[in-house]
Amino acid sequence: MISIKAVKDCNAAHIKSQLLVSVITGGASGIGEHSIRTLADIHDKEGKGLRIYLVGREGVAAKHTISDCLELCPKGAFRFVQAGDLAFLKDVDYVCADITTADEIASSPGERPGIYFLVMGHGYLAFEARQETREGLDAFYSLLY
Ligand SMILES: NC(=O)c1ccc[n+]([C@@H]2O[C@H](COP(=O)([O-])OP(=O)(O)OC[C@H]3O[C@@H](n4cnc5c(N)ncnc54)[C@H](OP(=O)(O)O)[C@@H]3O)[C@@H](O)[C@H]2O)c1
Repeated sequence: MISIKAVKDCNAAHIKSQLLVSVITGGASGIGEHSIRTLADIHDKEGKGLRIYLVGREGVAAKHTISDCLELCPKGAFRFVQAGDLAFLKDVDYVCADITTADEIASSPGERPGIYFLVMGHGYLAFEARQETREGLDAFYSLLY
């Protein structure tokens, strides 16, 4: 099995190699939150620029994470993006449009637009039968994908 050190070194090298415009869903807790904190921590030492869009439903926890991250990485930019239910494609569209507009404003002249790092940390484990959203999709798979 590959060592945890090799994984951490590889991730750190990537984080240090370029401006990272990052979108982290489920960013208010769990894997998403820890991804943001780790990005902020590693970036502060040798990173080339960090803009994180923390997508979450719970603003209080997200703002707490952002304030901790600004202490870890004062030169980073962290923005909370309020999500509804990401199993609804209309809510996903809203979040995408919000991030697109915010990043156009935040980017420097000449910067190539784009998201360089995506963590899809939202979700839950489902052991139940299919449940449909109001949009007629399977709620679990719609949320994941
Ligand atoms: N932890 C593990 O060992 C592990 C292993 C394999 C796979 N996974 C999968 O990885 C994902 C994240 O796991 P985790 O441990 O970080 O879970 P977690 O701590 O429960 O975090 C899940 C996040 O997803 C958000 N979320 C849930 N339903 C949502 C919805 N309908 N719309 C928008 N956001 C929603 C939650 O927001 P709220 O706080 O607002 O509810 C929460 O921030 C899950 O899909 C899990 O099944 C986890």
